[in-house]
Amino acid sequence: MKTNRFTPAQITEAAALLKAGEVVAFPTETVYGLGAIATDPKAVAKVFAAKHRPADNPLIVTVATTAMVAEYATITPAAQQLMTAFWPGPLTIILPVLPGRLPAVVTGGLSTAAFRLPASAVTRDLIAATGVPIVGPSANLSTKPSATKAEHVLHDFDGVIAGVVDAGPTPVGVESTVIDMTVTPPAILRPGKLGPADLEPIIGPVQADHHHVAAGETPKAPGMKYKHYAPAAQVVIVDAPADWPAALAWAKVSGTAYGVLASPAILATVPTGVPTYALGGDIQAATHNLFAGLRWFDLHPSVSLVLAQAYPATGLGAAYMNRLDKSAGGRHFTQEQA
Ligand code: TXA
Ligand code: MG
Repeated sequence: MKTNRFTPAQITEAAALLKAGEVVAFPTETVYGLGAIATDPKAVAKVFAAKHRPADNPLIVTVATTAMVAEYATITPAAQQLMTAFWPGPLTIILPVLPGRLPAVVTGGLSTAAFRLPASAVTRDLIAATGVPIVGPSANLSTKPSATKAEHVLHDFDGVIAGVVDAGPTPVGVESTVIDMTVTPPAILRPGKLGPADLEPIIGPVQADHHHVAAGETPKAPGMKYKHYAPAAQVVIVDAPADWPAALAWAKVSGTAYGVLASPAILATVPTGVPTYALGGDIQAATHNLFAGLRWFDLHPSVSLVLAQAYPATGLGAAYMNRLDKSAGGRHFTQEQA
């Protein structure tokens, strides 16, 4: 199949493909999504097939207006407060579904579904042009880092999907915060740009224990039980700036070709000839560049070990460290030394 690369000015063509039951990737403020008409089970099945996604991992329903949500789910008063405060924006809200309105392939057979109204006007215009919600899982092969550029989408899906709407790099760089509003207190199932400090002033206390999904335990967001964000190389996290000299010395004698994913200040201390990718100088830049960096090392298959910079896990750093920790399978340099 030919994969069309559309500009934001070609949304009508992209919407026509979606309406014909095809899969078209779209930009959002967080990461690129893999779109298909949410009410068309055959189109949604193509998304699962393209991603190699397990069938028990439900998809986000992406909408252009709050009114679209009301056609498929019960909007509780607290959920309405979140929508008023944060939509359009990087917050996905889990709500009880109205029976029979969404295909089981979208919800994974659950009695709840995840809804998202992205900040990107391109996305909202695309959905408005189709007239119905579109599913929007991240546009990456299952287990791989999410796509923050159209090039990443094409790397994973060229020839497999009908198109991608290219609006350039996605600003935030990590996926939306997922909050489950069907439990009391509401639970953050996936950290994102919006954290408890943003949500609690609006709806009161939230549970944010998403870091502690033990092996063998069933996590609340089905997607969190799978291997995730993993490049081909082994990622090892370097926790503190002071650990870098020892980490670089350890990597050098490890006998494996290694690379470094860190801020320009740290990269200045890396020996010449070592492949490096700059994260930028602060947590916003690091989050924006994280997936692109992980994917860059996949294009350099000689590298089998990547040392990656940690940030304090507060605010946006909680989302950054959640993704980096998964990409590393929990490996930290401090443990290598012990
Ligand atoms: O920023 C984002 O949210 C991106 C962009 C493209 O919108 N989308 C995204 O979708 O990250 P996805 O499918 O990669 O992640 C959705 C997460 C998964 O962990 C999934 O298991 C969880 O949300 N989820 C979906 N429906 C759920 C439900 N009814 N209950 C609990 N978790 C749910
Ligand atoms: Mg994903």
